Amino acid sequence: MTKMIARALLSLLLAVGILISARAQQKAVNPEKAKMDIYITNLMSKMTLDEKIGQLNLPSIGFDITGPLVSVDVDKKIKNGMVGGVFNTFTPEAVRKLQDMAVKETRLKIPLLFGYDVIHGHKTIFPIPLALACTWDMNLVEQSARVAAQEASADGLCWTFSPMVDISRDPRWGRSAEGSGEDPWLGSQIARAMVKGYQGDDLSKPNTIMACVKHFALYGGAEAGRDYNTVDMSMVKMYNDYLPPYKAAFDAGAGSAMSSFNEINGVPATANKWLMTDLLRGQWGFKGMVCTDYTAVNELIEHGIGKDLKDVSRLALNAGIDMDMVGEGFILYARELVKEGKVTQKTIDDACRRILEAKYKLGLFDDPYRYINESRPAKEILTPANRKIAKEIAEQSMVLLKNDNQLLPLKPQGTIALIGPLADNQREMIGTWSGAGDWQRSITVRSGIRNLFGENPVLLTAKGCNLLTDRKYLAEISGDKSVDPRTDDEMIKEAVETAGKADVVVAVLGEPSGLSGEAASRSDIGLPGRQLDLLKALVATGKPVVLVLMNGRPLTLEWENEHVPAILEAWHPGTEAGDAVASILFGIRNPAGKLTMTFPRNVGQIPIYYNHKHTGRPYAGNPDDKYKSRYLDVSNDPLYPFGYGLSYTTFNYSDLKLDKSTMNMNGTLKVSVTLTNTGKVDGAEVAQLYIHDLVGSITRPVKELKGYQKVFLKAGESKTLTFALTSEDLAFYNEKLEHKAEPGMFIVFVGGSSDKGLEASFELTK
Ligand code: BGC
Repeated sequence: MTKMIARALLSLLLAVGILISARAQQKAVNPEKAKMDIYITNLMSKMTLDEKIGQLNLPSIGFDITGPLVSVDVDKKIKNGMVGGVFNTFTPEAVRKLQDMAVKETRLKIPLLFGYDVIHGHKTIFPIPLALACTWDMNLVEQSARVAAQEASADGLCWTFSPMVDISRDPRWGRSAEGSGEDPWLGSQIARAMVKGYQGDDLSKPNTIMACVKHFALYGGAEAGRDYNTVDMSMVKMYNDYLPPYKAAFDAGAGSAMSSFNEINGVPATANKWLMTDLLRGQWGFKGMVCTDYTAVNELIEHGIGKDLKDVSRLALNAGIDMDMVGEGFILYARELVKEGKVTQKTIDDACRRILEAKYKLGLFDDPYRYINESRPAKEILTPANRKIAKEIAEQSMVLLKNDNQLLPLKPQGTIALIGPLADNQREMIGTWSGAGDWQRSITVRSGIRNLFGENPVLLTAKGCNLLTDRKYLAEISGDKSVDPRTDDEMIKEAVETAGKADVVVAVLGEPSGLSGEAASRSDIGLPGRQLDLLKALVATGKPVVLVLMNGRPLTLEWENEHVPAILEAWHPGTEAGDAVASILFGIRNPAGKLTMTFPRNVGQIPIYYNHKHTGRPYAGNPDDKYKSRYLDVSNDPLYPFGYGLSYTTFNYSDLKLDKSTMNMNGTLKVSVTLTNTGKVDGAEVAQLYIHDLVGSITRPVKELKGYQKVFLKAGESKTLTFALTSEDLAFYNEKLEHKAEPGMFIVFVGGSSDKGLEASFELTK
């Protein structure tokens, strides 16, 4: 009897249990997702294998190709259902033509995706991404992506190949310009803000576009800074230093990813199953689609990992790649590979489903013309409001590197000699990867000063020299008009004469935009061409010289730093370049940018970054101490460290306090500091908080950024800033790749740069 009661009770409990778990499961199913699943399952049930494979094809149609020309007869392929999306075409008219082919002339009327490299703005161009990072202002970062999405979607696009979140610690790598620099923590904040800006809270809105996180992964780790080069990296370095920004972008909901060109520990990313499937989809739970980089599947043959296009297409599909950018290996061979059992039908189905899901989320099945509205461009592109944001961001991105005797800001009086090949050069203002940007709408420094002050101060101008001595190459990357037919010596002579007539010299020098970005690695990262000779000649006149730099990477500036009294790093500032430079030069805005990538003293110091390790023989600055980790011919310190940047005012940090000396794993440590504007003008400061974990199960960096606050203070004003640290902020990936904080002593630094700061310590307990 008791047995019977017990059994009855057990069944009752079981039934209740099943009911509860069914309820829980029901709750977990998102109705929107369920609706999408039904729609796509239904659509796929009608698709032939060839139609599914067609969705995996992403040809380029239009212009701007960054590799071999493969995409031919794209119209025909679209009509034959052999295309899932295209890139390099925009404007509503051009996009409509292609979308018509897909929805009116194919059997299943599946709309196309329209992608483009909208990297730092679409038509209103913002500063290059490396400069954008120097704003340390996530609202501005997000706004830049928001405006870019607004303009790109008004121009027919629904997908951008951005953000690029590759960590870069090697300024020889030209693509440093496209990322946010060397720090994984700051890079993660920026990655998140960019995704939010592009995608908003609803991908199906006609003014949001899908982000594509690139280049997955570790592209910035290319050996010796040479583009496309090998990456060989320990797992702990990968997890702690290079992967966080990608992960942050995916966690923020990025809809797609792009595989990188490089290999990772012997297996190219595009054929790397561990990367694309185990890590990205398995460990990280990424649900979006992955496309390759330009012909990256085909390049697997050159990498030496597959024997022909069929073989490497198999590798890429089995690794977890969904969409083949340009290469066409999938449309040529996927059918055979399935028939031969080398790729499963499920692999093709999964890839196709992920691409269709992206289209569904973008709202393209509801309305394939959602992003195609001929009346939008005139109202939404290059509007005064967008340009205003571009100017604001450009101003905030500039970094004042030096300012002896407060030479800056300049007074708007007397005679200024405005010299240099970038002083009045519209084309170079918008920087690398500004595909749709119209350089003819950009403002040069000369126009910027004129816009501010009209004819007073008097401006004398001289070009000074060409940007490069290789005229043929300069014409190729910058257009014929950039090349001055005179010799550099003639131009330098003219510039010196011009400087002699002025009260102050403003020299605008740097790199042409084509010297950074893709396939633009340099082994000498000094001022190119005869520009240093020009600068030396100008300094030799004895006139005060202000150097305004425009470039796409950290440069080596030892001579400049020693001899030029004022240096402003303006980067390639975008459409509003000149107005922004003028407003900083004359103190209408006080510079507040801080570097996010270290400036080395010379190329021999590279790779150089603030969050390095100690070594067993750290060098403490005593030159007699020979057996230390150091160079014999240059100091270990960089010229300008991460986090560095001056202002027209001065800031003082005082009274660093921790609210406790020990914190346990569940606790929160409050760190407070008083920041005072001790100068005579109002200004903003980026107060930075770093930690150092003194003893770890694996060695820890000498400093790691864990917080910052950008604060505006009036002259004389003080503010107490409070930061909060939890054990999550102290955690890192250990040897077993577990993300954990370890008990022990920590140092906290708070200051205005990674090389300076007040210090305090605390203990983390269990
Ligand atoms: C670049 C990518 C870019 C793609 C499409 C490639 O060469 O590496 O960053 O998105 O071209 O233009």
